[in-house]
Amino acid sequence: MVRFGVIGYGYWGPNVVRNLTNLDGVQLLAVSDKNPAARERVQKAYHDMRVTADAAEVMSSTEIDAVAIVTPVWTHYELAKTALENGKHIFVEKPFTSCAHQAEELINLAQQKNLKIMVDHTFLFTGAVRKIRHLLEEDALGKLYYYDSMRVNLGLFQHDVNVIWDLAPHDLSIMDYVIKESPEALIATGQTHLNGKEDVAFITVYFPEKIIAHINVNWLSPVKVRTTLIGGEKKMLVWNDLEPDEKVKIYDKGVSITSRQDLYELLVSYRSGDMWAPQVEQVEALRTELAYFVDCISNNHVPFNDGASGLRVVKMLQAANESLNKRGALVYL
Ligand SMILES: NC(=O)c1ccc[n+]([C@@H]2O[C@H](COP(=O)([O-])OP(=O)(O)OC[C@H]3O[C@@H](n4cnc5c(N)ncnc54)[C@H](O)[C@@H]3O)[C@@H](O)[C@H]2O)c1
Repeated sequence: MVRFGVIGYGYWGPNVVRNLTNLDGVQLLAVSDKNPAARERVQKAYHDMRVTADAAEVMSSTEIDAVAIVTPVWTHYELAKTALENGKHIFVEKPFTSCAHQAEELINLAQQKNLKIMVDHTFLFTGAVRKIRHLLEEDALGKLYYYDSMRVNLGLFQHDVNVIWDLAPHDLSIMDYVIKESPEALIATGQTHLNGKEDVAFITVYFPEKIIAHINVNWLSPVKVRTTLIGGEKKMLVWNDLEPDEKVKIYDKGVSITSRQDLYELLVSYRSGDMWAPQVEQVEALRTELAYFVDCISNNHVPFNDGASGLRVVKMLQAANESLNKRGALVYL
């Protein structure tokens, strides 16, 4: 039995709490939130739950083995550090920390204390992303050309972070998970229209082997779009996360170009074959992820979405902010 405490019961916290209250091998012992209205909501939903305004009460409890930190990003480092110092495993929301330096410190601390860190990159546990990773692993698309994702909608405006830090952790963690190569450099552009934080942004990431990625995040879009295209030499893939059924489609389409020197012209041929939609597991990603965290703690396994994976994403976010501030200058990773 792994005994949990949760810090933060705002927008995302209730999902973490709900899953922890009905997972095998888990006991949720306490929830902390500074906000009285949030505490009232916890108590209403879970009558017997220990609810406190003071996160330190959860951190210092000898009955608690692991703490889920579901608070705004600028609070993650302090809370995570205190939890690790108190001997707790930590499940930390994305993005892991506000800067790479903080993430490195937490990783070292966890290592010294033999504790687990899991960063909540929820999408890595969806049926669609697991399927895409599997397809890329078995080279179904051939040599990779590009990764292009669009995550846009109207709001929810965040007051503490820009649209990159809010939405791009999803795309960057997915990209990090499905593309084997490490990115070399990136450029980011964006603009602030309403509250001084960038609300529209575009990130381009350069990989070795001519792989290029593009991420479009936007809080000012009239429609919600969650679409990713992944193009390879042999096949191309479209993942539309808003599709209820056939979320992932693979197109047997491609282009080949040959040049004959004697003709001084390019011979372009287009291939347009079948499309197929593989079966994608329908699971609640967060539930699968939390069950995996419990398994990693119980069996002393290092999660693949550990502190190091959180750090890789934070490094890209930091580089994106740096580039953004220089109007799209190239920043090496
Ligand atoms: N994985 C996902 O898909 C996903 C989705 C949404 C949000 N998130 C992440 O979850 C985190 C929280 O986001 P949110 O939208 O729920 O924020 P939120 O502002 O709605 O809620 C945060 C809650 O934490 C509480 N809090 C802050 N500091 C505290 C402290 N020291 N002690 C106790 N309570 C404290 C606040 O009172 C608030 O109720 C962020 O890191 C965000 O990026 C992840």
